[in-house]
Amino acid sequence: MKFPNGPQTPAVVQMLRWIANPMSFMEACAKSYGEIFTLRVDKNLPPLVIVSNPQAQQQILTNDTKELEAPGDLNDVFEPLLGKHSVITISGAEHQRQRQLLMPPFHGERMRNYSEVITDVTKQVISQYQIGKPFNIRSATQAITLRVIMQAVFGLYEGPRAEKLQHFLGDLLERTSSRLSVALLYFPALQRDFGPINFWGNQMRLQQEADELIYLEIRERREQPDSSGRTDILSLLMAARDEAGQPMTDEELRDELMTLLVAGHETTATALAWALYWIHKIPSVRQKLLQELDSLGDNLDPSIVFKLPYLNAVCSETLRIYPVGMLTFPRKVRTPISLGGYELEPGTVIIGSIYLTHHREDIYPEPKQFKPERFLERQFSAYEYLPFGGGARRCIGLAFAQLEMKLALAQILSSKELQLVNKGEVRPKRRGLVTGPDRPIEMVVTSQRQVKPSILQTTTV
Ligand code: HEM
Repeated sequence: MKFPNGPQTPAVVQMLRWIANPMSFMEACAKSYGEIFTLRVDKNLPPLVIVSNPQAQQQILTNDTKELEAPGDLNDVFEPLLGKHSVITISGAEHQRQRQLLMPPFHGERMRNYSEVITDVTKQVISQYQIGKPFNIRSATQAITLRVIMQAVFGLYEGPRAEKLQHFLGDLLERTSSRLSVALLYFPALQRDFGPINFWGNQMRLQQEADELIYLEIRERREQPDSSGRTDILSLLMAARDEAGQPMTDEELRDELMTLLVAGHETTATALAWALYWIHKIPSVRQKLLQELDSLGDNLDPSIVFKLPYLNAVCSETLRIYPVGMLTFPRKVRTPISLGGYELEPGTVIIGSIYLTHHREDIYPEPKQFKPERFLERQFSAYEYLPFGGGARRCIGLAFAQLEMKLALAQILSSKELQLVNKGEVRPKRRGLVTGPDRPIEMVVTSQRQVKPSILQTTTV
């Protein structure tokens, strides 16, 4: 079989570029080899075929339980943190079963409960920032999204144990965001301590402490006979039964909780930070957004906020220009297929580059410009615009993340006047296995805006 063209540099060089700056590496490859190319990042692993053409994305994501599959063993870089039983690391029927157990808390009626949590937490966090004192906006948005997901997962969860878990998770995620940590994930032989350099060991110890708190919570819930009225995600998962009537084991519960806690806050925190950066970098964007929010008067009802066209366009453009998840998870060819002019054999690994698709000039003219208006002028297909992936592994938290972005932004913008401390360019870079800003984005509260009554919590989204 002939693989699509790609760089001929040694695998280790390709791996280092992949770790150091995957976006510029992908852009350079797309320039040289076009919309389908092959990377060889590890001589012990199969080559990776990277695609950015929307038709190819569609072919892959609509067939990933037919001619292709979406196996979890290709996501083994997530295993040290999320475990062997995470929905991200399992495959086939087990993956389908687990998705079915995990989806209900992220749909329909349940979403209504989260509006209140998001609004309250945003208010608490943002009230801590004083006029004139600069702060790192990503730390603020991370504080919001971590508290929100903790409450969604555990219900009202306060006290020293909750604080400890929040602290461990925050620390753990901060450590795993470094390039060194990513290098350790891609080179498992380095996953150990080297004399006094105990980066990996410290990470594992932190994780163990977080795990102990999660297991303690699970054990206590099992012993509590009165937990039947609870509607948090942990209670729903503990009550869930598969087709054979079996509940999830403690280990499965731990891995799924860790998956939701990690996937559920890291990505949205970055998306919110980018949104605030763009809104305050481009005055006309901020002006239009405030006009739209202010037009609601006192009625910041979540269902209305959720449907605001310009706010929606700003959030969509934020996830287009620098998608936090720059790639889909890998898919594997099961039966021979023809893709982008190449005949691919079973076993070939294909990854959709969300970043490259979102930067195609033919779909998004002036792709490097932040222009929310493009989402008002045109509708994009699910394969031209895919910040949450698609198919068998489409993001479970899509609706949750969109709701959180919109309600948190509405709350922040209507209560505070903010400014960027430094108006210089911020570019995306790798942050762990996802992306984030390449330098801290400092903001400052310049004044309170006329305080509106908080977002009402009663309407369906
Ligand atoms: C802006 C925020 C978010 C972005 C950009 C994002 C993006 C993604 C992407 C690109 C995928 C891979 C899809 C594919 O391969 O087709 C994914 C999967 C996933 N996401 Fe998200 N996500 C976000 C927020 C969340 C939230 C809030 C949660 C949970 C509360 C979550 C949970 C998951 C899970 C569990 C998967 C794996 C699904 C599976 O393997 O079946 N994500 N996400």
